[in-house]
Amino acid sequence: MSFSFGSTGSAMGPRSVMQSFGRDSAGQAIDPRILMRLLAFLKPHKARMFAALLLMLISSAFALTSPYLIKIAIDENIAGNDTVGLFYTTLLMAVVFVALYVTTSLQQYLLSWIGLRVLTSLRARLFAHLQALSVSYHNSHIVGVTISRVISDVSVINDLLSSGVATIIGDTVVLAGIVAVMLSLDISLALATFAVLPLMLLATWIFSRRARVAFRQTRQRVAAVVGGLAEDISGIRVIQAFAREGVSSDRFEEVNRANRDANIDAMSLSFIFLPTVDFLGVLATATVLWLGGIAVARGELTLGTVVAFLAYVTRFFQPIQDLSQIYTTMQSAMAGGERVLELLDTKPLIYDEAAAVDMPRITGKVEFRQVGFAYQLDRKILRDINLIIEPGQTVALVGPTGAGKTTLASLVARLYDVAEGAVLVDGYDVRMLTQRSLRRQMGLVPQDPFLFTGTVADNIRFSSPRATMAAVENAARAANAHAFISALPEGYATKILEGGVNMSQGQRQLICIARAILADPRILILDEATASVDTLTEMLIQDALQKLLADRTAIVIAHRLATIRKADLICVMANGQIVERGSHSELIARGGLYADLSLRQ
Ligand SMILES: Nc1ncnc2c1ncn2[C@@H]1O[C@H](COP(=O)(O)OP(=O)(O)OP(=O)(O)O)[C@@H](O)[C@H]1O
Ligand SMILES: [Mg+2]
Repeated sequence: MSFSFGSTGSAMGPRSVMQSFGRDSAGQAIDPRILMRLLAFLKPHKARMFAALLLMLISSAFALTSPYLIKIAIDENIAGNDTVGLFYTTLLMAVVFVALYVTTSLQQYLLSWIGLRVLTSLRARLFAHLQALSVSYHNSHIVGVTISRVISDVSVINDLLSSGVATIIGDTVVLAGIVAVMLSLDISLALATFAVLPLMLLATWIFSRRARVAFRQTRQRVAAVVGGLAEDISGIRVIQAFAREGVSSDRFEEVNRANRDANIDAMSLSFIFLPTVDFLGVLATATVLWLGGIAVARGELTLGTVVAFLAYVTRFFQPIQDLSQIYTTMQSAMAGGERVLELLDTKPLIYDEAAAVDMPRITGKVEFRQVGFAYQLDRKILRDINLIIEPGQTVALVGPTGAGKTTLASLVARLYDVAEGAVLVDGYDVRMLTQRSLRRQMGLVPQDPFLFTGTVADNIRFSSPRATMAAVENAARAANAHAFISALPEGYATKILEGGVNMSQGQRQLICIARAILADPRILILDEATASVDTLTEMLIQDALQKLLADRTAIVIAHRLATIRKADLICVMANGQIVERGSHSELIARGGLYADLSLRQ
């Protein structure tokens, strides 16, 4: 029975961890809709599941046989001085034991087999789904919390689906079998044993009500632990630089302790409940011993019957105990299932329309038609954007921090959908195109260049995995990255560490530019692509890009105005609007915001 140690999280998480975590309510004890949907994960393994259940029934039958064999041995073989009969009865018991062992092992093997496959395929589904979810989903969900859904919530679901379901069915059958055998052995003794059942039901009822809350909390608090851990590890450089390790540890300790307490709550409930069940079992055994003993003395029952009865009583409480423990597995699985299904049910905000078409190779015309955009409903980020970029043109976006330049550029690749108006590429509304066909023709160098673990070459080749080494080097030359890469100890085979920490910011940008160039896109978006390189490198890149941009559409975002002087069109943005547009000389002549910015640089 699983209590899923260390898999929990806190409602008083110091940061917003709990906010994106979900409901803290006790919810429904067992939600049939969630249960049915979880059970559906077993569908592909129907045949094996059936075989496992069959084996379970067979092994239960074997388990029920041995007390009866004891009765035969005592009442018939021993009482009748039948040594040969005793030998065969003993032999039969040995055979039953081996058969029980074989069927039980086989059944457990099958269940693990099924469980591991459900686990793997559910994780794969979640991963694929996470990849499909739009950027806005990931913006608003804490990475660690999402990770805990894929790892820990999935594993508690698995506990239920593999061992839980089988235990419920198997134990119910065993229980019914024992009741039947006990009744057939001796009705009054059987009824005396069942007298403790109402007490048992009461204990289970009290326990289950508390357990529901406790187990839900343990499920929820693991996410806070994982969330806090993931964030603090990624922010470790800042934490150390500001000597905030203490604060960070304190915060972590708080979530960690809340997680522990939730687990202790859940555990201590079981530690009270399980001895109670044991005690009731002892009570029933004592009753049988007392009443049965008297009946034997009076000659109303055989000794063998009473011994067999005692064995059945012990076996009677095992499935009851198992079943009440399954309740906790069920609780964890309900809480975990709710979160996993919620994630699977989240529809990507950006998806391909049924009528979406594949965009043919484009010339690269981009048009913003009366575009308005907001990340959150109540705060407009872009307003009244009207801009036409002709194929092959280079348009520069400049303007103060927070003006909306990155936002505007990301609309072209449809990372977000506009709230008003439309973005058109070669006359197609981007919402009517398949995302793949649209993005395949774009190269984006983001403002915060991201490198994956792997080699330098792998990172450049990321956009076009089949590119030859020569093509990779050419792209690197065009990005002016070849020189520094060749100077690395292992050149293009140099391993990039997580987050690209072993590359300078400028080097990361150069690798990202090479990556975008290698993709050979019709539309190139460079967001502050050269912000972190020195002026000489920047000039060299400018020259290289000049040739490269000649027959492509380009949107270049820059703070250093020197880099965009030669752009066909310069748009100055402020407060989500394009406030000035023209060539460098026109804008200087106008003496507005651009002239002002230019003067100050
Ligand atoms: N993911 C987001 N969710 C909510 N608001 C956002 C998000 N990204 C940006 N914003 C807001 O949108 C506005 C425009 O941001 P944007 O990144 O487009 O500015 P920018 O012009 O590129 O600035 P910079 O020159 O600093 O890169 C800012 O006010 C910012 O607070
Ligand atoms: Mg920006």
